[in-house]
Amino acid sequence: MEKIYGVIGDPIQHSMSPIMHNTAFRELGLEAHYHAFHIRKESIRRYIDAVRLLNISGFNVTVPHKTEIMEHLDHIDPLANAIGAVNTVLNDNGRLIGYNTDGMGFVEAMQQEWKQDIVQENILIVGAGGASRAIFYTLASMGVQHIDIANRTKEKAQSLIENCPFTIQSSALSIEEAAGQLEKYSAVIQTTSIGMHPNTEEVPLKLDRLKAGTFVSDIIYNPLETLFLSQAKKKGAIIQNGVGMFVNQGAVAFNLWTKKNPNIQSMKNIVLDKLG
Ligand code: ATR
Repeated sequence: MEKIYGVIGDPIQHSMSPIMHNTAFRELGLEAHYHAFHIRKESIRRYIDAVRLLNISGFNVTVPHKTEIMEHLDHIDPLANAIGAVNTVLNDNGRLIGYNTDGMGFVEAMQQEWKQDIVQENILIVGAGGASRAIFYTLASMGVQHIDIANRTKEKAQSLIENCPFTIQSSALSIEEAAGQLEKYSAVIQTTSIGMHPNTEEVPLKLDRLKAGTFVSDIIYNPLETLFLSQAKKKGAIIQNGVGMFVNQGAVAFNLWTKKNPNIQSMKNIVLDKLG
């Protein structure tokens, strides 16, 4: 019987997840369908009832439900628990298990472009919101030792570091402090919404002190190349946009559900095609 998967969010109509997962199901010859469900906050409980009733095999969770969903699940994976957000749920014979594949998706994408032993590297993360937290804790859980966090509100960076359940050497920095010592880092990861459409003229950080050869990643994919990435490229950086993270968070979820590895490149092509 055809298996049902999906994504819940509010809004959800522009989600690229259905076309990405349905392409992967078709390519692997799996009898499955992935649907976008528009679920409001007050309907989460009833959605969970529907998951059990209809035997929905798994689903993604997007804005604004990633934290709220947690109380409705039977078990939370330890990394998702540390991050405090779930973006993927597996229905394991009626037991609903929550995972967070955002951080893993980022790391997979990073390693596809930057073939470095990241554990040894000195990394700067810009921003201290939900995306930063997923990436920071995932890198820390993998044993990366040196990650600084720069944020407009330095206290938020400090609190992210204090709550990190993994051993790590980290400093909280203001944006200016980070810009003033940028040559220290071999990778810079931009996780704020600065530079996203329609505010494409904004940059989160001055790049004067960026070393050539630094890996610079921006999790934004609209536009595909933010002003921040263009400036980094001019300084000789290896740049990466947010498409890789998006595709790989989906691929990791797909693997949790089906135990199969989808073709990352064709998922990426579909997403790039949709983004135009
Ligand atoms: P997400 O879940 O996408 O990471 P978030 O939790 O709202 O989003 O976090 C947004 C991040 O972008 C924060 O680091 C925020 O900085 P503050 O903690 O100081 O608010 C940062 N951010 C957003 N808009 C910003 C702006 N105009 N200038 C500087 N930082 C900004």
